[in-house]
Amino acid sequence: MDKTTHVGGTDDFNVVFIGAGNIMFGSDEGPWNHSFRFEHKLGLRLKVVAIVDPAVERANAVLKKKRDSFVVSAYQNTRVFKTLDDFVKNMTPKERPRAFVVGSPPMFRGTLQPGRDIEIQIMKHFPGVAMFIEKPAATGPKSEIEQAFNIARRISDSNSICSVGYMLRYLKAVQKMKQIIEENGLVVMATIARYAAAYEAITKPDWWDKSKSAGPIIEQGTHFCDLSRYFGGEVDISSVTAHSLEWDEEAGHLSKLRIDESKIAPENRIPRVTAATWKYDSGAVGSLTHVATLQGRNYSCELEVHADGYCLKLVNPYVQPVLHVRKPGDDYEQTFTFPDDDPFFSEISNWIDIIEDIEEDPEAAQILSTYEDACRTYEFTWAIREASERSRATTLATRRPATSVVEEVLAEEENEA
Ligand SMILES: NC(=O)c1ccc[n+]([C@@H]2O[C@H](COP(=O)([O-])OP(=O)(O)OC[C@H]3O[C@@H](n4cnc5c(N)ncnc54)[C@H](O)[C@@H]3O)[C@@H](O)[C@H]2O)c1
Repeated sequence: MDKTTHVGGTDDFNVVFIGAGNIMFGSDEGPWNHSFRFEHKLGLRLKVVAIVDPAVERANAVLKKKRDSFVVSAYQNTRVFKTLDDFVKNMTPKERPRAFVVGSPPMFRGTLQPGRDIEIQIMKHFPGVAMFIEKPAATGPKSEIEQAFNIARRISDSNSICSVGYMLRYLKAVQKMKQIIEENGLVVMATIARYAAAYEAITKPDWWDKSKSAGPIIEQGTHFCDLSRYFGGEVDISSVTAHSLEWDEEAGHLSKLRIDESKIAPENRIPRVTAATWKYDSGAVGSLTHVATLQGRNYSCELEVHADGYCLKLVNPYVQPVLHVRKPGDDYEQTFTFPDDDPFFSEISNWIDIIEDIEEDPEAAQILSTYEDACRTYEFTWAIREASERSRATTLATRRPATSVVEEVLAEEENEA
């Protein structure tokens, strides 16, 4: 990020932040912090005209910190509103935004229903204005997925420049994998993903509650489901199978939970392990194992992509990406490292360059995750969750008849006696 040269206009770049939480202003949970990347990308041109967040105190607190810092010029005139409507009613012509960054929780977006339709509201009041929207597209019931696809169609019709925050696609390591595949005309035969979350560091109660965050695959494993699709192509949704290890099974106990799980209804508690396999439309096979088993802070995640003669293994994409490449003609792997790569900066930087229509390096500025594509990942993650729940239901059902069988035998014995 410190090596990027500033290209672009001299005019103010007005932005509205929807949500004043961790993704927007940073936290101890991880390296994400959109405001920081905007400040570096746009410098003095950045004008955050409004922050929309019903938690006004939280928004004011982050705003105060910014105003007390060297980036004060971006936040000097920022106004805080509880709702987008309040902003629309009070906006001056000078404050008209060029772009919206949507980092509110997914339960408040991705549908056509009032209060959960921020994308539609933005398009209604600011047709064609650019949107950056965080993943996942939504987290409502599965029956609402079609509404997310409907939003995708409307975004496409509106010509809004829209990007979704699947930042791992922007990693240099991931782009190197793509390059190897393209340059060698490879056909992906398998993707193998492992996502191990450090559960001890996850202290948001909502994350542990399926009725709020929709579970660890839809909320978190989604990044690796998305990367798998990025390499494997479209998934045959009907082929998805999955198993889970649940909180109430013998092997499902976690000793370092930092939240009080007893406050979450038993049916809404999340699995500790989810393992899924599926077919891609190409015939290739994919698999994902998501575990919430690590303590401490750092996650441990790996993605392997296999093709004839090749294994591309991406290790530790969140913390320090390393790529191991095995090729024909060599039994040993070549290892590539990518120091100082910041995919959070790249996704924002590319999106802004496209908004500003900077054509100096058209190769560099691409949106790698569209809203429609993100909806497909969302649909896929729901399929994994459902498959694991079906499998659990079958396990429970086969256990019950075992009891019934004993009861029947006893009843028969009583009758015979
Ligand atoms: N790409 C990544 O690696 C990454 C990392 C962290 C979070 N995220 C995503 O960002 C989103 C937000 O996560 P977070 O960690 O910042 O959550 P958070 O809980 O820290 O912050 C969310 C904020 O949104 C506010 N809010 C609630 N309802 C709202 C509404 N209707 N309109 C506007 N604001 C509203 C809340 O008051 C809160 O301040 C989630 O979708 C999450 O998955 C992505």
